[in-house]
Formats: sequence, C-alpha cells, structure tokens
Amino acid sequence: MGFLVKKFLRLWTGNCCLGYRWRIGSFPTRSDLQTGYECFSAMTHLPLALLDELKDPIRFKPLGPDVFGRTHPQELLAAIAEDGEPLLDLVNQHVVSIQAFRSQTLLQLFRLAAKYETNPDRYCRHNTPLTGKILINAFYEPSTRTRLSFDSAWHRLGGDSINITDRSTTGIAKGESLEDVAHMFNNYGDCVVLRDGNPHAVYAMSSTLRIPIINAGNGIDEHPTQAMADLYTIFKWRPSLAMPSVSASDRIRIGIVGLPSRMRTVRSLLRILAKFPAAVEEVVIIHDADLNSSISVFDPEQLEELVEAGLNIRVSTDLHREIPELDVIYINAISWVGDTYEVHGQAFRLTREMPYKPEAIVLHPLARGPELCTSLDDTPHNWYFSQARGAVFLRMALLTCMVNRAERVIDVV
Ligand code: CP
Repeated sequence: MGFLVKKFLRLWTGNCCLGYRWRIGSFPTRSDLQTGYECFSAMTHLPLALLDELKDPIRFKPLGPDVFGRTHPQELLAAIAEDGEPLLDLVNQHVVSIQAFRSQTLLQLFRLAAKYETNPDRYCRHNTPLTGKILINAFYEPSTRTRLSFDSAWHRLGGDSINITDRSTTGIAKGESLEDVAHMFNNYGDCVVLRDGNPHAVYAMSSTLRIPIINAGNGIDEHPTQAMADLYTIFKWRPSLAMPSVSASDRIRIGIVGLPSRMRTVRSLLRILAKFPAAVEEVVIIHDADLNSSISVFDPEQLEELVEAGLNIRVSTDLHREIPELDVIYINAISWVGDTYEVHGQAFRLTREMPYKPEAIVLHPLARGPELCTSLDDTPHNWYFSQARGAVFLRMALLTCMVNRAERVIDVV
C-alpha cells in the first residue's frame, strides 16, 4: 500500500515536472523528478516515513479527556429539585447579558442541561423538541465552539439552521441597517444567535426582532452563554455548590487569569458568579504586573457592582503564589476588540508540574494559546474539554426554553 502511494506520488509529481520541462523545451532529468516529489511531499506534510505507516489502520480512542467526570451530570441532577416555573422566564426574552437572569432560572437550566447530558439519546433520537424550528446563526467574527455548538445543539434537538459567517454576503454590505436585517430575520427563523465585534449590534437587532436573539459575544462586552457553560461545569464538578445552602468547607476559591475590563468571558463569568455568592469563598483576579497604563483591570463601577452582589474579590499578579490555594483556575489570554484581538497575561503559563490542589480543576473558554500547556490535557485537572463538551447540552437546554418547547421535555407548570 505504502509502495503504491509512493509510486502514485512519484508519477504525479514527475508528470508535473514533465509538463513544465516540455513547456520550456527540454526533458526532465531524474533529479527534476526527485525535486518535484520532495516539493510535493513538503507541501502536503507527508514525508516518506509517514506514508509507510499508512499501511496500518489508524485507530482512535473513543474515550478521551473531554469525558473526565462522565457521571457528574447525574450528581447535579440529584442536587437540584426540578421546578419548571423559572424556565418560563426564558420565553419571549432576548439573552444579551447574564445580568437579566435569576439564580433560580440558571439552576433549572443547569438541571435541564444535566438531564440532556445524562441521557442524550433519549432527546436526540426519540424526542426532538425543536422539530419544525429554524435557527439563524450569524457569526461575523471567528468561532469554533460557540457557532458549531449552537448549531449542533439545535440539530440534535431536531431543528434546522441557516448559517451566515460573513456579513458582506448580506444587505449590510449595501448599507442595510441592522434593524432592517432583524425585521427580515423575523420572517426566516425562530431564534437568532449573533456574534458581532460591535458591542451595540445585538442591541440594535433586538429592538426590531420578534424572535429571540442570543448574544454569542459582542466585542469586549459579554458572552453570557459561555458563562453559563462555565458555571454548569463548576456545578457538575462540585454539585453541593448548587444546593440552597453551601457549607463553609465546600465554598471555593476561584482564580481568574484575565482582565475583567477587556475580556467578555471574564466579565460574564464574574457576573454569573455574583448570582451565587454563597458558593464562592474568594475570587482572585490574576493579571500582568506590567499592565499597559491605558488599561485598567476593572471598568468604572464593575468592581463595586460585584462586591455589592456579595463577591469577595482580590487582585494579584503572582500566579505561582496563588495556585496552591485555588480550587478552580480559569485562564484566558485573548480579548476580542472590534475586528482584531489583544493578548494579555503572556507571562502566565499553566503546566502539569505546577503545585495544584489535588482536586483543583482548570477551565479555559478556548481557543488555547501558549498559556495552557498541552501537558495538562491528560491530567484530572483538565476540565476545559469537558467545559466545551457541556456547552452543547447547556445550549440545548437554553434553546429549548427560549422557543417555548420546554413542556416537551419537562413539566413547566
Ligand atoms: N469559547 C468561545 O467563545 O470559543 P469560540 O471563539 O471558538 O466560539
């Protein structure tokens, strides 16, 4: 097999050289053919040694680090008593900021997400509550997880979707207003998910929409469903935090490596944590010691708002000193600002050798940069893949409620 592949490549690249030589009037030499093959090989990253390996089947492991904590959704299910009433809040409501959510609604969302995660086949194959519904997924900024997980969540529940990944393919390129585009979306779908670097775009569209819109990241402002996925992960890891009263020994110290004023994930995470102050002993914000003088750690009134809600917040620039005391370490380095991005915290890098508490978990909204070493992937501290996996179930739960189909999967009254 390897021999045949090599022979094919030699003939193919040889013919390319041959064609080239014929055009310039001489015949290709053996060395031309070899050079052509080497160029092709380098281009495709398939060196001969690797091609030889193709003769064996390439196997994969069905269980990987993203399924650490497989049993945890069941424990969270048991910790939260079912009550469908708070989920009615989500009908006829846009999701722009995490601020608008009641803690009871969030808990019931997590419960429904845990129900989906515990038994996905039951809903994905046999009971598809979004049948007949259409999602408009409009992403004007790069995304792997958010766009694809919303799309996956919708399809898993039986719905259809329209995806727009470039605003220049819509009337916006001809000067059409966002308000008018939203008027049209009312006719084409049942729910909109929008990621736009312009923080005001989601507000402009929501003013004329008669179907719900979900903010999937608006510049440096908010990313509410990421925060829901983050807290859902934390509650799966320690379900006692979702109980009506949390014992002092269960309360967590969470370290957030990032900038609340510049990172939408961090801003929304802090806001959702502020809905559950009894679960949190302390939040430690860890940022660069040499922060650019034009950037502040918090926006005006941001810290006051969080403290008033009951969060105990401290600021540090020394990750190594903090790590041994942290139960949850949340790290992010990228902040989307308009059509570009900034990188912060370049001095910080989590590796497997660091002195974590044995039970500590590491979260990251991803995409990964050098701040999160791959050496952590196969350790029990890796809950970031589980965090991304759980986001699908969290979004399934949210979408079901927002298009008023919750009664198909739970008793809502
Ligand atoms: N977490 C997150 O927002 O990832 P994407 O940018 O890939 O959507």
